Amino acid sequence: MGCHPPLSLPERELSALGRWLFARHCRASFLRSHYTAQMLWIKTLHIVFVASWFAGLFYLPRIFVNLADVAPGSSAEHERLLTMARRLMRFTHLLMVPAMALGIGLWAGYGIGWGPGQGWMHAKWLAVVLVLGYHHACARVLHRFERGDNRRSPNWYRVFNEVPVLLMLAIVSLVVVKPTDWGAFFVDWLCGLAVLAVVGLLAWWRRR
Ligand code: HEM
Repeated sequence: MGCHPPLSLPERELSALGRWLFARHCRASFLRSHYTAQMLWIKTLHIVFVASWFAGLFYLPRIFVNLADVAPGSSAEHERLLTMARRLMRFTHLLMVPAMALGIGLWAGYGIGWGPGQGWMHAKWLAVVLVLGYHHACARVLHRFERGDNRRSPNWYRVFNEVPVLLMLAIVSLVVVKPTDWGAFFVDWLCGLAVLAVVGLLAWWRRR
């Protein structure tokens, strides 16, 4: 982005005041574009870490489905799945930290989502708390499997596996749409859920 004198006047035709104002204008526009570029890079990294964190949250419950399905007495299979789940849990914990820190940096450092009319940010905070709760619940389930104390069926974990999908949809739709007309936003959500339910039912029916 270049910095041009107002009305494209050649610099020698500008008065001293004009030159001073022009220099200020150039500096402000440089700082603004630098600031925006920095913010966009932080947002890029935020999205990359959030996507990687969610990859872990999607895959962990799939391992729980398999762990709950292991036949009693098949201890080698059980141990192999437990090792996979432990490693993935450690990695998912690690990815959560930069994902959250960069999001907080965008909010606190650039003031995005502050002030009146930013209900989407409040709703996003609530959804993020639910994601953290889900992450914590996965850690508890893993401890249960480690103690040999699982009480849930594979089908229960299949349903549990859908929770992060809904949370991710909620958060991404909130940050992208930034709804102000909440009624219309909820109607769109209900229509989307109805379509998802029909597609899911059709897929399940074909697999039977
Ligand atoms: C502590 C938690 C978090 C905070 C404080 C936070 C904050 C923010 C902020 C302030 C933005 C910039 C919005 C804009 O430029 O309009 C942003 C962008 C974004 N966040 Fe987060 N975030 C957090 C967690 C998450 C999570 C868990 C997800 C995913 C499920 C997520 C997904 C996104 C996406 C996709 C964008 C890009 C939106 C766009 O530019 O259109 N964030 N976040």
